Amino acid sequence: MEPIALDRALDSFSDLWSPRIVTAVNDYDVRIARVEGEHVWHVHTDTDEFFLVIEGELHIALREADGERTVVLPRGSVFTVPRGTEHKPYAPVPSAILVFEPTGTLSVGDRHDEVPDHVDATTGHALAGGVQ
Ligand code: NI
Repeated sequence: MEPIALDRALDSFSDLWSPRIVTAVNDYDVRIARVEGEHVWHVHTDTDEFFLVIEGELHIALREADGERTVVLPRGSVFTVPRGTEHKPYAPVPSAILVFEPTGTLSVGDRHDEVPDHVDATTGHALAGGVQ
């Protein structure tokens, strides 16, 4: 195990909405992703989902009991989407995020709208070898 520089890890891929697993903590993955444009409405029935904005800005639309709202996360912000809450991330500019969630969590959740071609439905990919 060696330290991983997130900026170098982000430089090692260019796919959007296609998270890379940088490390694990107990049974949770730490994943990073490049993002721009819209993700897809989806819900994680059994787990909260933690977001940290590393670069750019992330908006997350939420469908809550009393209606829909959007939270705006500038660079350096954190937010946790509670389990069972439908959400749709959106990045107005090229951005990078860190996500912390249980290993095996699918990026498009347990239920989702039709997944567009630009969104990768994945439980996360390994970083390319040698990135530190
Ligand atoms: Ni999610």
